[in-house]
Amino acid sequence: MRLERLAVAHLDAVAALEEAGQVHPWKRATLARALADDTLEVWGAWRDAALLGYAVLAWLPFEAELQAITVVPHVRRQGVAGRLLAHLVTRARQGGAERLLLEVRASNTPALALYRQYGFDEDGRRRGYYPPVTRGGEREAAVLMSTSFKARAVD
Ligand SMILES: CC(C)(COP(=O)(O)OP(=O)(O)OC[C@H]1O[C@@H](n2cnc3c(N)ncnc32)[C@H](O)[C@@H]1OP(=O)(O)O)[C@@H](O)C(=O)NCCC(=O)NCCS
Repeated sequence: MRLERLAVAHLDAVAALEEAGQVHPWKRATLARALADDTLEVWGAWRDAALLGYAVLAWLPFEAELQAITVVPHVRRQGVAGRLLAHLVTRARQGGAERLLLEVRASNTPALALYRQYGFDEDGRRRGYYPPVTRGGEREAAVLMSTSFKARAVD
């Protein structure tokens, strides 16, 4: 498996992966904007010509945020997300971010386990943040998580 920074030329592959891997996939136009945005880094995990997973890192003034991570269903539980996440944690730390933040649906057990395994702790919850997964279902809480790289400077 190799990791590669993705660009607009990869839009078709990322859009297909997102459709296959997410309950609420990002729209193609949103993905196109993300791939062209200088404040974001979109990284892909490839095996030969197949895009197995991708993840999006956003640079904020003092922190970085994991905005998405998705792995194609038939290769899950083989370490693809772990490789991507470890890489983005390193990018964020080496790029000077104080913390890497993320938010995740409270019911997303695989993602919560992934984030805990890679050193993220829960900071709090936002009730009713996500739309229901199923029509007529209840809105769902976001779990806010982060991993810290250095103490915040205090004046
Ligand atoms: C969450 C997701 C990205 C994990 O991808 P993956 O490539 O299967 O993850 P990995 O194989 O790297 O797993 C790393 C660790 O995460 C945890 N994990 C991953 N899938 C899990 C599952 N189904 N159940 C429990 N723990 C799980 C485990 O701790 C695992 O380590 P282990 O296999 O040594 O036990 C994948 O399930 C996915 O794409 N889900 C849909 C999109 C999504 O929910 N993204 C996150 C929120 S935006």
